Amino acid sequence: MTSRTSGKHVSVKLVILVPCIGLLVVSFIADFLWASSKPFYRKAVSNSRVEKAAYQIFLQGKKTITPRGKRGSSGEVNATFADLPGPKLEWEEIAPAPVPRLDGASIQIGNLLYVFSGYGSLDYVHSHVDIYNFSNNTWGGRFSTPKEMANSHLGIVSDGRYVYVISGQYGPLCRGPTSRSFVLDTQTKHWNELPSLPFPRYAPATQLWRGRLHVMGGSKEDRHEPGLEHWSIAVKDGEVLEKEWRSEVPIPRGGPHRACIVYDDRLYVIGGQEGDFMAKPGSPIFKCSRRHEVVYSDVYMLDDSMKWKELPPMPKPNSHIECSWAIHNNSVIIVGGTTEKHPVNKRMILVGEVLRFRFDTQDPCCFCTNMQEWSVVGKMPYRCKTTQAGYWDGFLYFTSGQRDRGPEDPQPRKVIGETWRTKLKL
Ligand SMILES: *[C@@H]1O[C@H](CO)[C@@H](O)[C@H](O)[C@H]1NC(C)=O
Ligand SMILES: *[C@@H]1O[C@H](CO)[C@@H](O)[C@H](O)[C@H]1NC(C)=O
Ligand SMILES: *[C@@H]1O[C@H](CO)[C@@H](O)[C@H](O)[C@H]1NC(C)=O
Ligand SMILES: *[C@@H]1O[C@H](CO)[C@@H](O)[C@H](O)[C@H]1NC(C)=O
Repeated sequence: MTSRTSGKHVSVKLVILVPCIGLLVVSFIADFLWASSKPFYRKAVSNSRVEKAAYQIFLQGKKTITPRGKRGSSGEVNATFADLPGPKLEWEEIAPAPVPRLDGASIQIGNLLYVFSGYGSLDYVHSHVDIYNFSNNTWGGRFSTPKEMANSHLGIVSDGRYVYVISGQYGPLCRGPTSRSFVLDTQTKHWNELPSLPFPRYAPATQLWRGRLHVMGGSKEDRHEPGLEHWSIAVKDGEVLEKEWRSEVPIPRGGPHRACIVYDDRLYVIGGQEGDFMAKPGSPIFKCSRRHEVVYSDVYMLDDSMKWKELPPMPKPNSHIECSWAIHNNSVIIVGGTTEKHPVNKRMILVGEVLRFRFDTQDPCCFCTNMQEWSVVGKMPYRCKTTQAGYWDGFLYFTSGQRDRGPEDPQPRKVIGETWRTKLKL
């Protein structure tokens, strides 16, 4: 993952760079003309022009395309180099979500998966919740989110009844985050407002730990600059017990799109990235522009000592996994994500593995005290990021996200609502 472009690739790159710049200019102009001729908010329609333009920005590939065919030869790193081998899993496609979703959020409570907001396309964001019932394998129970609540990149966590939604991006395209935060009672479907986070955060890591709601990392207002701050507030049954958020030990590395998990009274923060798309300076509609991103495989843990400890890293850097995990049998299972860009052609690369991290700290057989380890438990039906995952009654489920372009092309393409499940025993 740390390999660099070697000298001989530079000339190849130059040859393809010139036509690329031409294409880029044309697409930017087309994009701009198109973008400035439409209203801000638009209904989610299956308008292929809307989707094409939207994905063009998210899909780096279109703007840095390299010719096909030569990959894999003469020692060049091929398009699928980041894929890891793993057992084949038997996947069954089940009822698709009512809407496609990118950068949505989800919470599993018992046999129900609550799936929140997200982008339908880059210039349309959802503001509702869909519920999947694992017992009857049906979607239903749609209800709205508060008008002022963020629409994507939410910090989200639940105690089993109340769902806390902290900060996140408000509105479509590359708008910034809001600091406004809310709590949902899933039994009454009633929302209440919480004290706003001290500063807005984009995709912050969020968990409930020892009676306190913890929020850390994420990106700052510009969506790009990593925040290291860590705040908490005491909560119980959907109510805050304090007036203000308090500062906690800062996280060693800031940035958005990480999995944040509490297991056995310890707090874990896994993967994620620094940097992200941000609004083009001066763009009245907050058009997205690409910025440098680095994806990480880091795993950090907080315990009684209140000092962050580094644990064995993921098998490869992985980001966009904030709701792509489920806890099962002393392990966290992570479904998909996005890894570092291709070192040669710089295209985005999605993750198509189901990963497992064992939390076990003691094993009765060998008396080991540190058995924490990563493994690949299987392959997904395709590579996909921002999946919404759940585990129920022997099955691992995932729905939604943005999938790849096919087995040989790991770049992101279609935003999906598909739902899949596989029998998984660990
Ligand atoms: C691409 O790279 C992977 C991993 O190194 C390898 O298994 C695969 O055979 C390669 N594919 C091609 C077409 O070269
Ligand atoms: C989920 O499905 C089960 C089985 O059909 C049903 O008993 C239960 O009421 C459903 N839950 C909700 C909230 O609709
Ligand atoms: C199945 O679950 C959905 C979603 O919770 C619910 O709307 C529906 O009423 C349930 N159907 C039955 C027959 O339980
Ligand atoms: C949990 O893991 C243990 C040890 O690896 C195994 O014996 C057991 O069958 C697993 N349970 C389930 C429900 O998968």
